[in-house]
Amino acid sequence: MALYELFSHPVERSYRAGLCSKAALFLLLAAALTYIPPLLVAFRSHGFWLKRSSYEEQPTVRFQHQVLLVALLGPESDGFLAWSTFPAFNRLQGDRLRVPLVSTREEDRNQDGKTDMLHFKLELPLQSTEHVLGVQLILTFSYRLHRMATLVMQSMAFLQSSFPVPGSQLYVNGDLRLQQKQPLSCGGLDARYNISVINGTSPFAYDYDLTHIVAAYQERNVTTVLNDPNPIWLVGRAADAPFVINAIIRYPVEVISYQPGFWEMVKFAWVQYVSILLIFLWVFERIKIFVFQNQVVTTIPVTVTPRGDLCKEHLS
Ligand SMILES: *[C@@H]1O[C@H](CO)[C@@H](O)[C@H](O)[C@H]1NC(C)=O
Ligand SMILES: *[C@@H]1O[C@H](CO)[C@@H](O)[C@H](O)[C@H]1NC(C)=O
Ligand SMILES: *[C@@H]1O[C@H](CO)[C@@H](O)[C@H](O)[C@H]1NC(C)=O
Repeated sequence: MALYELFSHPVERSYRAGLCSKAALFLLLAAALTYIPPLLVAFRSHGFWLKRSSYEEQPTVRFQHQVLLVALLGPESDGFLAWSTFPAFNRLQGDRLRVPLVSTREEDRNQDGKTDMLHFKLELPLQSTEHVLGVQLILTFSYRLHRMATLVMQSMAFLQSSFPVPGSQLYVNGDLRLQQKQPLSCGGLDARYNISVINGTSPFAYDYDLTHIVAAYQERNVTTVLNDPNPIWLVGRAADAPFVINAIIRYPVEVISYQPGFWEMVKFAWVQYVSILLIFLWVFERIKIFVFQNQVVTTIPVTVTPRGDLCKEHLS
């Protein structure tokens, strides 16, 4: 009958030597070479300490019903028309003030409690001699993130579009995107930018100047921008028809970069260290077995009797 190897187990051997012997020195050296180089390899291969990480979240966005509109007119009626939801701004406009009809609606498409888009429509009544060649529009939003970092801010969508031909309607369909110059910190409340984009209480014209508003906004490290590469300018307005701005602004899911917390960094570093360490442990185990079996360093070999056998002898 042919015999097969059905089971095997290693026999344990120990090697004895003094604590100050060459063998002890060799073991110390081997331990150092096993545990320290993986650390250096992990460290030198970059990304040992996780500095930035990212996650996805749909922000909670709310239109704040603040609007600032400047409509640039054709040369025959020189200048512009303006209107905003800020009484102080409107007072400054004199006879350039023209009150439009505004209707807005926020929609939650997937019924998850977060609004997904804003439908904004503005109809600016015009006299038959007035022609709109360009539009500057600011809408403000309250913008919140919850999942990793709690961010609360007031942000804006700035829309500017102009065309050489007088328009009847401007159609915009774009995303309100988050722009980060800096990763968010993990945990805690970030209300640094929970300040209004336009200071509506100020009586000074300077505070409503578009260059000033945009410049102050761009100083921020976290902003939102309206991203619509192709606003559509429709022409052919009837003499008594208003100029219409039709905007659909979507609130998409964002990839948010943040600074990981301490334990996340430690976990990431540990995983890298251990996966390299395993290779070193395996290699040095072979080296140690070779060195002791072949008596490269002098020791006294002892074969340890397996424990089970000892027990058995004791019992019988
Ligand atoms: C953010 O600002 C709004 C309006 O000023 C205020 O009602 C709200 O409490 C603020 N939120 C935080 C977290 O500071
Ligand atoms: C808004 O303007 C008023 C008047 O100039 C000023 O007192 C107030 O501090 C301003 N608020 C902010 C938030 O800048
Ligand atoms: C904005 O980011 C820069 C660079 O990361 C940083 O030095 C600065 O302190 C940040 N400003 C604020 C107000 O957090």
